[in-house]
Formats: sequence, structure tokens, C-alpha cells
Amino acid sequence: MKKTITTLVVAGAVGSAAILAGAYSGLINVGADDPHYPAVHAFLSMARDRSIEARSKDIEIPNLDDEALIRGGAGNYNAMCVGCHLAPGVEQTELSQALYPAPPNLAKIGIDASPASTFWVIKHGIKATGMPAWGKSMGDEYIWGMVAFISQLPKIGATQYQALVAASGGHQHGGGESQTHNHESLDGSNSDHHGHAAGDESGRRGMAAVDHHGRSAPEADHHSSSSNGDDHHGGSNSSSKGSSASDHHAEPASNTHTHADGKEHVHDS
Ligand code: HEC
Repeated sequence: MKKTITTLVVAGAVGSAAILAGAYSGLINVGADDPHYPAVHAFLSMARDRSIEARSKDIEIPNLDDEALIRGGAGNYNAMCVGCHLAPGVEQTELSQALYPAPPNLAKIGIDASPASTFWVIKHGIKATGMPAWGKSMGDEYIWGMVAFISQLPKIGATQYQALVAASGGHQHGGGESQTHNHESLDGSNSDHHGHAAGDESGRRGMAAVDHHGRSAPEADHHSSSSNGDDHHGGSNSSSKGSSASDHHAEPASNTHTHADGKEHVHDS
């Protein structure tokens, strides 16, 4: 018995030393285009799932069928999550294809685990995956809004998605947000973003909220040409326009942009 234990301890020490030496020599490829070995992947998935389960088991879940909650979640989801997690009518983005581990397509799967663990993941993020800890800038009720909205996602199509985003009143963090992204209108009127309750003025302003954050594809923001600044920020003429997405696609030049490496890049959508 004693001999067996000694053998196991020695084998363990030799194994650990080999792993350490391998890692130190640079053997492990940390490139995001090189998937984990299946055993490593299985181990990391197990550790993640168990960690989230253990930490979310006591979280109290509000009424996720509340329509105002769902609507609020739509605006925030569209502003902050679509680039990685997609949406009805958005099949793929540069981020969704390039991150490893890949962000799950929440438009298809909705809430995979429990609402409590979904809340926990959104609030705390997941280390070394690209999934941010949104709790650093968002209040809990806004995070619950996104949980409520995500649970509806697989049931809704692109049109209903856009309608919910339009009704949401844009995105709100509930304090703690940084001022580094420009919330002001380019024309200085700052009329469309924070500070109006869901649904107010929606008749008069038409799709203004959608103009700001409601693009179905994040590339739309990214590619929009600077000449039509009020398209981007929902200027006062937006009610006369049909839909912001078609505005975007009506401009062929805006499908092209130049990457930091100087290469020009054309999107096919
Ligand atoms: C920069 C990309 C990125 C952004 C932006 C992002 N996520 Fe994630 N998210 C990820 C990645 C990557 C994972 C998968 C992590 C993993 O495999 O462990 C993930 C996982 C999740 C999960 C767990 C899904 C599951 O079934 O396991 C939820 C829920 C989630 N994200 C919600 C959101 C919400 C809500 C937002 C917006 C507020 C958001 N994410 C923004 C990259 C992102």
C-alpha cells in the first residue's frame, strides 16, 4: 500500500514537472485560431459550468414575462451583445466568427441553462473568453431585462426584433457607464439616447431610437458613412425615413472600410 502511494506521488510530481516544463518552453499555442485538445476543452467546460452553477444557485429570479423588462432588455441587447451573440436576421459578424471560444448564438439557443446562471454570466462575465462582466457598469435590473429578452429571442423573427428594439428607448446602463463612447448627437441636439422613458415620443420620433442603436448588424454602425451623421444618431428627420437598415444598405460605398493593416475590406451584405 505504502509503495503504491509512493509510486503515485512520484508519478504525479513527474507529470506536473513535465507540464510545467512544456508550458515554460512555449509549447502551448495560445492562438485563438488553434482549438483546445478535446480533453482540455472538456475539462474547461466542466469547470466553467460547475463554477457558474455553484455561484448562481441562490439568486432570486424576478418575473421574466414582464413586458417592460423584456422591452428594456431589447435595447441593451441590441446595443451591446449583437456583435458577438447575433440576433434574428444577423447570421454572422467578424467577432462571432473570430472569437475562441465562440460566443453562442443566443438568437437561436436563447437561455441555455437557468435564468439565474444566465444572469450570473452576464453580470460577472467569463474569464479569458471575451465575455465581459457587464455588472461593472450595469445595474441588476438592466441585466435581468436582458435575461428576460434573451429567453424570448428564439421565438421572435427579425421584424419583431426590430420592433422591440425600437420600442425599448435605446440602451440604459443604470449608472456606472463610462462616457467614452459618444452619446451626443452629431448635430448637438442629443435628443435620442438616454433620458426618455420607453415608448414616449415614439410616434413623433418614429424610428429614432433604432437609428442610434437599433441596427441589426454591428457593422452597420461601423460602416455608416460620415456624410449622413444624423442617420447614425437619430437626427430629427428620422421620422420621415422608413427603416434605418435600408438607409444603410442603400449606400454601396458604406460596405467598404479599411482595416488597421491598411487592407481594404468589403462586406458582402
Ligand atoms: C466580445 C464578445 C462578447 C460580447 C460583446 C458579449 N459576449 Fe456574451 N459571451 C461571449 C463568449 C465568447 C461567450 C462564451 C464563453 C464560454 O464559452 O465560456 C459568452 C457567453 C455568454 C452567455 C452564456 C451562454 C451559454 O449558453 O453558455 C450569455 C448568457 C451571454 N454571453 C450573454 C451576453 C450578453 C447579454 C451580452 C451583452 C450585454 C454579451 N453576452 C456580450 C462573448 C461576448
